Amino acid sequence: MKIVYKKVLSDTKEARIVELRFESSTIASSVEPGQFILLMASACGERVPLTVVDSDPKKGILTIIFQEIGYSTKLLGSLETGDLLYSVVGPLGHATPIENYGKILIVGGGVGIAEILPIVRAFKEGGNHITTILGAKTKDHMILQDEIGQYSDELILTTDDGGLGEKGFVSGPLAKILEKDSDFGLVYCVGPVPMMKVVSNVTKPYNIKTIVCLNAIMLDGTGMCGSCRLTEDGKIKFCCVDGPDFDGHLVDFDELMQRQKRFLKEEAQALRKLHECKLKAQIKE
Ligand SMILES: Cc1cc2nc3c(=O)[nH]c(=O)nc-3n(C[C@H](O)[C@H](O)[C@H](O)COP(=O)(O)OP(=O)(O)OC[C@H]3O[C@@H](n4cnc5c(N)ncnc54)[C@H](O)[C@@H]3O)c2cc1C
Ligand code: FES
Repeated sequence: MKIVYKKVLSDTKEARIVELRFESSTIASSVEPGQFILLMASACGERVPLTVVDSDPKKGILTIIFQEIGYSTKLLGSLETGDLLYSVVGPLGHATPIENYGKILIVGGGVGIAEILPIVRAFKEGGNHITTILGAKTKDHMILQDEIGQYSDELILTTDDGGLGEKGFVSGPLAKILEKDSDFGLVYCVGPVPMMKVVSNVTKPYNIKTIVCLNAIMLDGTGMCGSCRLTEDGKIKFCCVDGPDFDGHLVDFDELMQRQKRFLKEEAQALRKLHECKLKAQIKE
């Protein structure tokens, strides 16, 4: 699977956000909005779950957008146009059911903004009126506002420092909108787990169906290993085979946040190893 396009969408001191397009005709011809792939950049990387942001079935091309947050995503981000990916499995997970809800609110935060692009597009094509709220740390962390704006009837931007759009978190404008008019058929949200928890808490008193796209840590992606276990409505679910979409009013977010921290020590070790490898390579050069 050859990489045919690479673009850095955002480059901040915390992490770059990179768009890659690569050949994968089988997945490109069958993937639906909301589904993901498991990708290995090289034989020594882990399997990373990433949402398919776009697909071109005619050309057999898939688009992914990812934040270089740890060892495997940094390894992926070091590949260039013309390089080959080691392995890609998919499409995985259930597609998001695209129905006509009338009015929909879509909320994306951080790199979750990339994950909502196929959803906004599909709901718009499904005849819905869409209000989108995008939240980022600063102006430099904001991505895809023009692309998502094309499919949104109303687009609201927020940044933590107020450098672009409204100052504060996405929950601010969301609460204001719902106070004035709560006649929305659906709220769909992707972003950091604490953000999805807050959004679900804001919509709960209005009893608006709220779907969150969860990012539990995955290993096999087949429902066998149990790594992506979470609780929805008191029942055990697996993000890879039961999700990634879940009912935000029924998810145990606190448990999910605890489980996200399971490998912090190993993740830090892996990053140090990558840094040392880079330093050794520089010294050799
Ligand atoms: C269904 C699904 C779709 C996803 N789609 C995207 C996407 O389109 N773009 C994107 O940038 N990211 C996406 N993610 C998150 C992405 O898989 C993780 O960022 C990645 O696995 C981190 O791997 P790493 O080795 O680079 O970092 P690690 O060193 O493994 O982790 C670095 C940090 O990220 C956290 N982390 C690790 N794994 C995950 C995870 N699965 N989800 C969230 N945080 C994690 C860790 O707790 C740690 O703090 C998705 C996750 C899932 C489950
Ligand atoms: S990743 Fe193993 S059960 Fe979901």
